[in-house]
Amino acid sequence: MKKNVRFFLDVLLEVFSSKKKNKKFCSTKGLWNDYFAMAEQSMDTQWDKMIWPVIKDFNFETVLELAPGAGRNTEKLAQVSRIIHAVDLNEYALEKLRKRFENQAVNCSMYFYKNEGSDLNMIKDCSITFIYCWDAAVHFDKGVLRDYIKEFSRVLKVNGTGFVHHSNLGKLAKSDISLNPGLRSNMTKELFKKYCKRNGLEIINQIDIPWGKNTDCISVFRKMAICRK
Ligand SMILES: C[S@@+](CC[C@H](N)C(=O)[O-])C[C@H]1O[C@@H](n2cnc3c(N)ncnc32)[C@H](O)[C@@H]1O
Repeated sequence: MKKNVRFFLDVLLEVFSSKKKNKKFCSTKGLWNDYFAMAEQSMDTQWDKMIWPVIKDFNFETVLELAPGAGRNTEKLAQVSRIIHAVDLNEYALEKLRKRFENQAVNCSMYFYKNEGSDLNMIKDCSITFIYCWDAAVHFDKGVLRDYIKEFSRVLKVNGTGFVHHSNLGKLAKSDISLNPGLRSNMTKELFKKYCKRNGLEIINQIDIPWGKNTDCISVFRKMAICRK
């Protein structure tokens, strides 16, 4: 086999297996439970200081929340949204989410779904006005985010917007996130922009955020292309 063909196949295999391993690790039973309990206390500050000032002018008619976990963000989103579709890889997270809203009077319709870790198959084309993902995509392998960004473009309405908090560790990260600080992944802000461009999404803003010793990024984007249903 020619050297460059072999190199290409090796790169392809690496990308494929790194995505697969990342989904497997992130679906470890109970992995996020301690986080769910601990993170509740910082929600108000994060929402008021880092999140709401960036998203306040967006359209919350039909919101997709990716990786909601136990629902601390969902509770905030429910105060401003008409419909929320919440999609998570883990059933145990969704159980907590359902329980949280079982007896809570919210003025919004909520739908909860489990996915396979990089798809939005349950969401219709051109149906979403706003995509939201906080403190979860920081753990997603770049291959996982590449798939999701393609899906974001499919499900967003024209002019629909997205807000995704992701890793910017890039080559400093191992593909096995358990070896990286804060379980951050190999994603970068440049790659996020590239995947958006490839899928007809325009970057509105990329905000660097200090996160302990790491610098994460919030990418904010808008769908430009015409929806073909
Ligand atoms: C650190 S928790 C964050 C939860 C929530 N966003 C928050 O801020 O409290 C990570 C969440 O991402 C979910 N998750 C991990 N990998 C995922 C993937 N590939 N697709 C969808 N959800 C995923 C986990 O099940 C978990 O609920």
